[in-house]
Amino acid sequence: MNGLRTIAVLNQKGGVGKTTTAVNTAAAIAAAGYRVIVIDFDPQAHMTIHFGVEPQTVKVGAYEVLTDSAGFESSLMLIRPNLWLLAANINLVGAETELVNVVGREIILREAMQGSADKFDFCLIDCAPSLGLLSLNALAAAEEVLIPLQPHFLALQGFGKLLQTIDLVNKRINPRLKVTGVLLCMHDTRTSLSNEVRTDIVGFLNNARGSNTAWSDAVVLPSFIRRNIKLAEAPSYGRTIFEYDSTCNGAEDYRKVANFFLGINNEPEEMPGSASQPEAQSAPAPVPIEIREINLPVPQCYTPVPIYTEPAPPAPESTHGEPANDISPEALQP
Ligand SMILES: Nc1ncnc2c1ncn2[C@@H]1O[C@H](COP(=O)(O)OP(=O)(O)OP(=O)(O)O)[C@@H](O)[C@H]1O
Ligand SMILES: [Mg+2]
Repeated sequence: MNGLRTIAVLNQKGGVGKTTTAVNTAAAIAAAGYRVIVIDFDPQAHMTIHFGVEPQTVKVGAYEVLTDSAGFESSLMLIRPNLWLLAANINLVGAETELVNVVGREIILREAMQGSADKFDFCLIDCAPSLGLLSLNALAAAEEVLIPLQPHFLALQGFGKLLQTIDLVNKRINPRLKVTGVLLCMHDTRTSLSNEVRTDIVGFLNNARGSNTAWSDAVVLPSFIRRNIKLAEAPSYGRTIFEYDSTCNGAEDYRKVANFFLGINNEPEEMPGSASQPEAQSAPAPVPIEIREINLPVPQCYTPVPIYTEPAPPAPESTHGEPANDISPEALQP
């Protein structure tokens, strides 16, 4: 691999599959032998929990890196072979407010990661369901955005605003940033609504070809994620889908997503509209590797010493629908 490929997994809508996608895609890529960082940029700490790490035990993580009280690499936890986590703890809830007067607050993560580009192959950032300062930091540090989307009624509400925000970041603070693709999660091909949403997005993205936008090369990923109860169960065991049930539909689907990012062709899915899509221009050349099965016990990779004596306040509710704290264009002024 040539350098670090950083992918922000972002959609300001809640519960669309961001964390499930970031966790399992990263796990599959790491199992294929690549060195992968995952960053939990959501104060809900769902990614951290999904990997079996208690947020209360995280002494240094995303918050400490953002507030410059810890270095990036020294805050990474090796949680699986080839897989390092920059974890979230409850402090992350206050990060956006605390950083509000810090000059250059939107590029803190990018600067913190600068020295690590040659040591890792992939970095997947699990964003919070908002377009606030944490998501802005993720967009400033990334070259690619993967948008998980649940194809249901109102799925496209807010989609244009999300793309415009990404475009704004691309134009003002990160010219490398591009939308790589939209991943349909919890997709049910039997319902006409799911298929209609897909057709709408394919048409929308096709219309943007050749335009001067950050999504001009974006595609709907050729594979999609089926609704699968095992994907919903795995987080409560602190396991990736490959550790929980490596043969279920969810594991099969996320292997295909990993293959997409590795440039390995999957069998095309039978879905309307799929033939009209061009190849993703940002996909790298095929890499002759196979994804190995992961069958590891969940490692005890941290010392489970609680750092809080008081019970932690409840995590903020997921934001379903439009975000309350969108990035305004003014926030992006240098
Ligand atoms: N394909 C799937 N089939 C069934 N359940 C799923 C699937 N994908 C995700 N889930 C479940 O749906 C819920 C929402 O998924 P997830 O947490 O990945 O979404 P999210 O976008 O990260 O949410 P948030 O915006 O709150 O961070 C979780 O309980 C998850 O386990
Ligand atoms: Mg999440």
